[in-house]
Amino acid sequence: MYSLTMKAALLLLALASVNGMVYERCELARILQANGMDGYWGYSLGDWMCMAYWESGYNTQAIDHDSDGSTDYGIFQINSRWWCQNYETANAEDACGINCSELLTDNIGVDITCAKRVVRDPNGMSAWYGWDYHCRGQDLSQYTAGCGV
Ligand SMILES: *[C@@H]1O[C@H](CO)[C@@H](O)[C@H](O)[C@H]1NC(C)=O
Repeated sequence: MYSLTMKAALLLLALASVNGMVYERCELARILQANGMDGYWGYSLGDWMCMAYWESGYNTQAIDHDSDGSTDYGIFQINSRWWCQNYETANAEDACGINCSELLTDNIGVDITCAKRVVRDPNGMSAWYGWDYHCRGQDLSQYTAGCGV
């Protein structure tokens, strides 16, 4: 028989798989490639992977509150000032035309479509500080190594 501690640990594991999802690196790399991200707007798959790593740690449910009162959502930390509507950020643009909570599901199709919109802006991938500080101009091969992509 399992001990009570073991049962509690198993229960926690089960809950974690339902309520949150952190993508495994190569699984995410394959999904991004399948969605045409490799080379999209001039950015490599390594750029997208590195950006997602530093922005969210590949966590689909990442939420961060910014000092200006806006909030960043999901695996690409998309912001409620410009890109999605959370119905509480003043003067929101909602350029992706979506409810921000759609960016927190484990199906990242909505996130990918909106990220493509973000990167087409003049700032390109510099819209993401995580990319600007940690990925720009770096050797990014480690982010896709061994993934067969
Ligand atoms: C946004 O999505 C959330 C979660 O599905 C929902 O609870 C909320 O009512 C939505 N907001 C609007 C205004 O549609």
